[in-house]
Amino acid sequence: MFDFFPVSSKEFDGPVLVTGAGGCIGSWTLALLEHAGVEVHAFDLQIDKRRPGLLMDNAALDRVVWHAGDIADTQAVKEVVKNSGAKAIIHLAALQVPFCRADPVAGALVNVVGTVNVFEAAKACGVQRLTYASSVAAYGALDNGGAMSTLYGAYKYCNEQTAKVYSEENGLHSVGIRPGVVYGVGRDQGMTSKTTVAILAAAAHKPYTVPFSGDVSWLFAGEVASAFIRSVAQLRTGAPVFDLNGQYASVEQGMSVLKALVPAANIKITGDPLAFPMNHSDEPLRAFIGDYGKMPLEAGIKATYESFQSLISQQKLDANQWL
Ligand SMILES: NC(=O)c1ccc[n+]([C@@H]2O[C@H](COP(=O)([O-])OP(=O)(O)OC[C@H]3O[C@@H](n4cnc5c(N)ncnc54)[C@H](O)[C@@H]3O)[C@@H](O)[C@H]2O)c1
Repeated sequence: MFDFFPVSSKEFDGPVLVTGAGGCIGSWTLALLEHAGVEVHAFDLQIDKRRPGLLMDNAALDRVVWHAGDIADTQAVKEVVKNSGAKAIIHLAALQVPFCRADPVAGALVNVVGTVNVFEAAKACGVQRLTYASSVAAYGALDNGGAMSTLYGAYKYCNEQTAKVYSEENGLHSVGIRPGVVYGVGRDQGMTSKTTVAILAAAAHKPYTVPFSGDVSWLFAGEVASAFIRSVAQLRTGAPVFDLNGQYASVEQGMSVLKALVPAANIKITGDPLAFPMNHSDEPLRAFIGDYGKMPLEAGIKATYESFQSLISQQKLDANQWL
């Protein structure tokens, strides 16, 4: 699966620090960087290698330098940026929609203060290559943005504004990416994770109902990770923010692909469409950062299904946890 995504160690002049490295996109980011021979440092609340371990063997996991800490802790973030000697930062640590809804203060501390901490640490340590995850949910913070309003989206939009100010006032430039719905191995939390859970259910021979319908983005986790890596593969200027949706297709289309692959799959779809605009083009991002690879829908669902099958049979993944 890694071959779909071009990553070259020659473009990096030192270690890359990945925050939220134990999450879904973080795991793919670690795996792609490590596979390409780039020195990589992982930062997360705890050292939990379970998700990265779905993509990397133990030797590869051991080559990653792991740091545990809270992104909301200004000093801890400064220390990890300094001690890692990072030349680039891929900032992914965040709490997703349900967690921000359940605890708005924690959401703001992690998603807003945490991002300011990353920019402050980059500024203090002279890191010049920085990318961060916004979200399609940020459209909910815009008048007529066409998205449902969530605290998560409000925090993400705030981060985009923060990035602009650091670029203008401090010459600290960044690339912001607004992913749509990400799917693939490791995608197990957040309200949009259910298309992935359906693929897992098919691999585990279990019935499952996806709780939303209609058009979504099918953004393969390796593709979004590759785009973040590409964003810091060169020095950038300004603080542009880009949409990233992968393939725009309905939940129903994706489940037809799955059904063609696994005729016995027992997957149903219910509920309303997700109220996020996921039909925006990826071309402006591709034009700005260059080629980061692309995973077609059929190949992405097949690769995800086969990986889940293999992980279940090796007892590396307990599907019952999510079903
Ligand atoms: N997955 C998607 O569909 C999607 C879509 C749009 C945007 N995003 C954004 O992309 C980024 C990565 O998403 P993901 O799917 O990998 O999320 P995830 O929930 O799988 O991973 C997030 C990681 O952040 C870590 N984290 C949470 N609080 C922390 C703290 N206080 N200190 C340090 N680490 C902390 C978590 O432990 C987790 O490992 C996030 O910023 C998310 O908002 C994701």
